Amino acid sequence: MTMDRAALEETAQAMVAAGKGILAADESNATMTKRLEAVGIESTPESRRSFRGLMFTAEGAADYVSGVIMYDETLRQASDDGTPFPELLARAGILPGIKVDVGAKPLAGFPGESVTEGLDGLRGRLGEYRELGARFAKWRAVIGIGDGRPTQGCIEANAHALARYAGLCQEAAIVPIVEPEVLMDGHHTIGRSEEVTAAVLRTVFERLAEQRVLLEGIVLKPNMLLAGYDCPQQAGVEEVAERTLACFRRVVPAAVPGIAFLSGGQSDERAAAHLSAMNAIGGVPWELTFSYGRALVAAPLKVWASDTAGIAEAQAAFLHRARCNAAARRGEYVESMEHPLAA
Ligand code: 13P
Repeated sequence: MTMDRAALEETAQAMVAAGKGILAADESNATMTKRLEAVGIESTPESRRSFRGLMFTAEGAADYVSGVIMYDETLRQASDDGTPFPELLARAGILPGIKVDVGAKPLAGFPGESVTEGLDGLRGRLGEYRELGARFAKWRAVIGIGDGRPTQGCIEANAHALARYAGLCQEAAIVPIVEPEVLMDGHHTIGRSEEVTAAVLRTVFERLAEQRVLLEGIVLKPNMLLAGYDCPQQAGVEEVAERTLACFRRVVPAAVPGIAFLSGGQSDERAAAHLSAMNAIGGVPWELTFSYGRALVAAPLKVWASDTAGIAEAQAAFLHRARCNAAARRGEYVESMEHPLAA
């Protein structure tokens, strides 16, 4: 199959459209069970469907959300009125997406490091997902920072898998989100985060080129440069924004249409503030947007858990986070948006 470059480019550009970002609602059942149980909700296919469905049907979500990443189970589920989620989203003008990796597994020979699996049979699965309405996909590689980590072996294994995945996606007319996540856990400084993130991105873009991946038809989903959460010296918002952009300018080709950051366990407010500061600085060749999981989902989940009948309240909490991050997408997020009544 030859790839349809124009269609891939068009989808990638729609994913990073101005003023909008991506909702990551693709937690595996194991991860979603942890999130639900943490707020006292039993995790069942129905509770997972209900919660995600309320976000997907929130009135006006399409003003802030360009695409939604789903999990296999979610892509096959439907809203209360029986409309399959991919169809419901597409009708609202939101691109349906699908997580296609099967998770980070221990990397043989490299204690404490992982490699993301899911290449076997991927061509067949992508064909089915396309039939079900998926227009883009996600694959997350996980790189930890610690004593002697990451190793080059770990970086190479993950970058190679990301590139193989991206090539298969483009063959299937699906835009790959390429996500090499350098974890923010640990004691490391922001300088170390910068060094590791730059090394990882360099290797990823080398492997993407080797596998003949069309850079205009991908979206990069990286971490921001942050000191590890246990580092006593935390960087301020401006420093994070400046150093992240400076680093990315050196290693991310200008052909990439957009960078959609992950939130990675930052507070909701910090995730918005960092993105906003980067957009305020600007002057970069890529769109700078969000592909947040926790920083969009945690707030509505908490509200919903306190009263699962109060759908409107949970939707309002979701739309509030989406609105804050859409403002950040334009460089216009201010902390006072978090306290609308006090303002
Ligand atoms: P977080 O924003 O919670 O890091 O999740 C984004 C994501 O999809 C990680 O793969």
